[in-house]
Amino acid sequence: MKTTIKLTLTLLTLLHLPILGKPLEYITSTDVITPNLSSGAIIRQEAGFETDFLILHCLVKKYQPKNLFEVGTCQGYGTLIMANACPTCAIISLDLPPHTPPFNLKPSDIGHKARGRFQQVYGNSLTYNYQQHFPIDAWFLDGAHDYAHVKHETEQAIQSGATLIVYHDTDIPEVLQAVVDALADTEYNVYRITDTRVSYATK
Ligand SMILES: C[S@@+](CC[C@H](N)C(=O)[O-])C[C@H]1O[C@@H](n2cnc3c(N)ncnc32)[C@H](O)[C@@H]1O
Repeated sequence: MKTTIKLTLTLLTLLHLPILGKPLEYITSTDVITPNLSSGAIIRQEAGFETDFLILHCLVKKYQPKNLFEVGTCQGYGTLIMANACPTCAIISLDLPPHTPPFNLKPSDIGHKARGRFQQVYGNSLTYNYQQHFPIDAWFLDGAHDYAHVKHETEQAIQSGATLIVYHDTDIPEVLQAVVDALADTEYNVYRITDTRVSYATK
């Protein structure tokens, strides 16, 4: 049964059909990456990440949020790219506490690429108290890539009054489904950038 649902969602995604709820607008990276927005970008030097994170740069540069909350710091490469795109933006990034399975990240590894450019916080994105930081203008959701996490994080982003929510790994059907479900019946427009793993929502 689970496999059937997964296959159906994959097929809908591949056919670029709206998955129930909120209709998605399907665009491509050239709709977001313009010469003006991409100037000064730090290009992520990892195969398969260059375009996705150039899009992140362009979106953050375009919207220039006052503050931004990232879920999933890891080494801080995305954090660095966002800090570079918006030097005046106050960035907070959440990750699981060091040595938490299954990632078992060392304290010295978490966020090290963007050290000094953001505030590191620790916790589980399902239980973290985001309200202490509200209002939050923009979010980058790149933590656990499953339905429950992405839906909860998106609901928190909506409550925070965000005008921009950027998602990585929305090529994963259950991640995209969570985005669509959480944003149904809201004022957000949702865009799936089809030649990448990125989607984003704005209002
Ligand atoms: C794909 S990596 C993030 C990549 C990072 N954004 C970048 O640009 O390089 C996912 C990160 O999410 C963290 N993570 C996974 N589940 C989490 C949770 N429930 N709460 C907070 N962080 C979580 C992991 O520890 C990992 O560092």
